[in-house]
Amino acid sequence: MTAQIIDGKALSAQLRTEVTQRAAALTAQGVQPGLAVILVGDSPASQVYVRNKVQACADVGFHSVLEKYDADLTETALLARIEALNNDPRIHGILVQLPLPAHIDDHKVIEAISPLKDVDGFHVASAGALMVGEVGFKACTPYGCMKMLESIGMKDLRGKHAVVIGRSNIVGKPMAMMLLAANATVTVCHSGTADLAAMTRQADVVVAAVGKRNVLTADMVKPGAVVIDVGMNRDDAGKLCGDVDYAGCREVAGFITPVPGGVGPMTITMLLVNTLEAAERTAA
Ligand code: GUN
Repeated sequence: MTAQIIDGKALSAQLRTEVTQRAAALTAQGVQPGLAVILVGDSPASQVYVRNKVQACADVGFHSVLEKYDADLTETALLARIEALNNDPRIHGILVQLPLPAHIDDHKVIEAISPLKDVDGFHVASAGALMVGEVGFKACTPYGCMKMLESIGMKDLRGKHAVVIGRSNIVGKPMAMMLLAANATVTVCHSGTADLAAMTRQADVVVAAVGKRNVLTADMVKPGAVVIDVGMNRDDAGKLCGDVDYAGCREVAGFITPVPGGVGPMTITMLLVNTLEAAERTAA
């Protein structure tokens, strides 16, 4: 069996069309959704990410501002900028690109963002809301993975076993909470798991979010399972690849997400969705 591909680019395009329409309606009411993106330092990868985010805002009709600072910006100065953006009525979402330079405390910076504007979903208030099932912003990458499952008719995961590989605050942990909220039975595996293959072989849904190539190989996948690959790595030839051995797993899985063109485009799309919802909440 060859797996069906879950096309993140196509699904993103569809969702962005809906976002564009809702943004236009809101703008007509006098509230144009606005996102502020802050980049500290000149990491080439981060530069590309923030440029893509700002471009995506323009594409769907949002207002956006990109604030770029030198790597020696003080933590105090950054916190002051966040406070100003918290109080700026044209800005509905604030995103501070991570990682930050070592002299700045990531945690302190994220906690300074108003939970009402935390469109990354990284604030403890957002994580807590997800944990207890209250309204809050969902972290964009796992939120995108849930939309991908929904697109193949798997919105309700009652009776399904989902295995998440990775326990980061940005992906693994919120992913597990979202799968649980969708009624899946959830197992979280990580570097301390004794027999990863024994776990993944039981899974109806596997989400790989480790940041290492070939974490999931064909022999670890139950025939017909759904494989979601959050990884973004480079292979020996410098080509973009995920955490999953795609060629091998594609022959066993029922559905699989490619890299590139899978989860990646969904992450920015869900950032747009969160920013739109933040703006809609102010207009409600
Ligand atoms: N760095 C890598 N991914 C992300 C993300 O989703 N949000 C932010 N703020 N920084 C990142």
